[in-house]
Amino acid sequence: MVSAQLPGDQRTWLLTRHEDVRAALADPALSSNRRNPGFPLRAFGVRPPADFPQPMIGLDGAAHSAARRPVISEFSVPRVHALRPRIQQIVDEAIDTLLAAGQPADLVRYLSLPVPSLVICELLGVPYADHEFFQSRSARLVNRAVDPDERMAAATEVREYLDGLVTEKEREPGDDLLGRQILRARADGTEDHGGLVSLAFLLLIAGHETTANMISLGTLALLTHPDQLGLVRDDPATTPLAVEELLRYFSIVDSGTARVAVADTEIGGQPIAAGEGVIALGLAANRDPQVFERPDDLDVTRGARHHVAFGFGPHQCLGQNLARAELTIVFDTLLRRVPTLALAGGVEDIPTKQDATIYGCYELPVTW
Ligand code: HEM
Repeated sequence: MVSAQLPGDQRTWLLTRHEDVRAALADPALSSNRRNPGFPLRAFGVRPPADFPQPMIGLDGAAHSAARRPVISEFSVPRVHALRPRIQQIVDEAIDTLLAAGQPADLVRYLSLPVPSLVICELLGVPYADHEFFQSRSARLVNRAVDPDERMAAATEVREYLDGLVTEKEREPGDDLLGRQILRARADGTEDHGGLVSLAFLLLIAGHETTANMISLGTLALLTHPDQLGLVRDDPATTPLAVEELLRYFSIVDSGTARVAVADTEIGGQPIAAGEGVIALGLAANRDPQVFERPDDLDVTRGARHHVAFGFGPHQCLGQNLARAELTIVFDTLLRRVPTLALAGGVEDIPTKQDATIYGCYELPVTW
């Protein structure tokens, strides 16, 4: 563990060992409240406005459980299993469009972005026709190179859009996640318009940005490791293992798992005082040689399920079953339907998201 200086004079602890990262993410003395002045805001660089209820990702303890509990079943293994035929159809249609686009085609544009975006829109009941609006706003929101005021403005625009959408759904709840939450809350007397807008905001952003980046990076890694690609192509039973390994290998959220101490605590023998910030570095933890042999090698057969790419503890990714299903279906279908898929240029020419809080690539030109 090291103490580091963040931009703007703030100091924070950086955790790099797998054991320390897991201990921190499970420690009730470490809070996710982004409004706490000690919270190391490397992730978004902007504090949520005071008049907007924090989504579950910024809540602790009982308030966090109360926000998370009602939506857990929406992302359970059986619920996600039931979505698989529709996800398959969405993936097939995206690949049709990619193949029709002519070569070289940008995989990010035709596959990585539309698949998770369409899936989360249908699940929530958000019109996909508006995807360009919220995709562009969420890309701005997670881009550290963009001015903080502009990032705040992007967040406000998405929130206003969702506020209007939730109001419409309150008048006429449909059979979608937001509609079901409205009916459930009405039945148990816990209706909360602002809370629902917050939830929709979190799911919409978390649901497409992350998975889209993993589709691009996962494809890139397989195309540049032909031995590993061969293993996945020859035996589809390997794909779920490959997905775990790709999640470990890239750990795209990396420093996004931050906390602030609300009581004195200790991680890996290092005392942490109340008020101090902590960043649990997922990429370092997932490359910890104490836990993963030859950690820098991509090995799709390793069985890396104990990685922390989805976090750990009470905030562990709510959408992980959905993300796994989307990634498995995408890689299986893409490798089977486009066996000659290849990068259109050199790896060094691919524009990567060095400036974003969630790692990925902006474009991935491919041929077949
Ligand atoms: C939380 C990663 C996909 C919804 C998290 C966290 C990580 C993560 C690391 C923990 C944050 C923390 O502890 O502060 C990922 C990755 C994904 C992915 C790598 C894709 C490959 C998704 C999807 C959804 C989603 C598809 C929803 C549709 C959420 C939510 C939380 C969360 C709601 C907050 C949970 C809570 O605070 O209790 N995710 N995620 N994620 N994720 Fe994901």
